[in-house]
Amino acid sequence: MVSSSTNALGLLCILVFLQGSITIQAQSGDYVALCNVTTSIAVDLNLFSGIWWEVARQPSGIDFCTEVNITVLDKTEDNVLIDTTYAVSPDYPWVNQTMNATITVENNNVAEDGFNFTYWNPPGYTPYTVYKVLYTDYTDVAFLCGYTNQTDSDTSFGIILARDRTPTTEALNKLESLGSSISSNFLNGTMSVITQGASCYAPSGANPSTIISTLLIVMSLILGISSDRQII
Ligand SMILES: *[C@@H]1O[C@H](CO)[C@@H](O)[C@H](O)[C@H]1NC(C)=O
Ligand SMILES: *[C@@H]1O[C@H](CO)[C@@H](O)[C@H](O)[C@H]1NC(C)=O
Ligand SMILES: *[C@@H]1O[C@H](CO)[C@@H](O)[C@H](O)[C@H]1NC(C)=O
Ligand SMILES: *[C@@H]1O[C@H](CO)[C@@H](O)[C@H](O)[C@H]1NC(C)=O
Ligand SMILES: *[C@@H]1O[C@H](CO)[C@@H](O)[C@H](O)[C@H]1NC(C)=O
Ligand SMILES: *[C@@H]1O[C@H](CO)[C@@H](O)[C@H](O)[C@H]1NC(C)=O
Ligand SMILES: *[C@@H]1O[C@H](CO)[C@@H](O)[C@H](O)[C@H]1NC(C)=O
Repeated sequence: MVSSSTNALGLLCILVFLQGSITIQAQSGDYVALCNVTTSIAVDLNLFSGIWWEVARQPSGIDFCTEVNITVLDKTEDNVLIDTTYAVSPDYPWVNQTMNATITVENNNVAEDGFNFTYWNPPGYTPYTVYKVLYTDYTDVAFLCGYTNQTDSDTSFGIILARDRTPTTEALNKLESLGSSISSNFLNGTMSVITQGASCYAPSGANPSTIISTLLIVMSLILGISSDRQII
């Protein structure tokens, strides 16, 4: 287990076993922090890298089938590459799109203010958004929160990333319970579950004659990336 990050979390001592039980020992009451007053924990970049699936979010977003691919680049600046892939629309779930971001992250270091960055897939850019890693055990789950306006909690959100693309409802409920004890951006049992699994990017949905229009849709989505798109 990752003692430094659980210490950094401050409030809780947490053990997550997706297949087993989750033990939460509250150490200082039931105070649950808003994202804007939390700190992004120290993360071991190599352990954190690889593929994560977004399995739940609060409030619900417009993206689904979201895959996050984190790669550590051998650089001092912009040392972390994040490629996030999602299906563009419920009507065209077989079309995926990837947006990328590079950020500079100090290995194993607390990032007080989180990471404020934009994703790009020119000419599209997402709005600058602050992301914070609140907790991760690296092998099963990561809890992230973020916002676009630090003093407007309506712009904040919580995201559960899991290594397992399709956790059972029971596992997901445990994660939501855990998340809700870490930050008010997570709701116990009532977060929006993100569509994942076989229906994602399923080519069977595609009719060859729609390929051109699909491309047009992708282009219009890229061009029209809306201000409420906050992927990770
Ligand atoms: C994740 O991103 C890295 C760097 O772009 C790439 O080499 C790797 O193939 C990607 N992994 C997957 C599963 O897409
Ligand atoms: C995106 O869709 C393409 C074409 O269907 C597929 O080859 C690719 O694996 C998909 N990307 C991901 C990350 O699943
Ligand atoms: C995102 O990064 C991947 C891997 O480096 C690359 O294949 C892809 O072209 C990039 N996408 C954009 C929009 O730059
Ligand atoms: C993130 O950075 C952008 C660009 O520097 C800035 O305009 C924005 O206010 C920052 N957002 C937050 C929430 O700090
Ligand atoms: C951020 O939110 C505050 C109030 O919550 C508002 O007054 C301010 O204009 C917002 N800032 C931006 C850049 O939207
Ligand atoms: C955090 O957000 C709340 C509610 O939006 C706001 O009242 C408070 O001032 C913010 N705190 C900081 C440190 O920005
Ligand atoms: C979440 O809800 C479940 C079922 O109602 C309950 O057993 C659990 O204690 C709750 N978790 C928290 C952190 O309140």
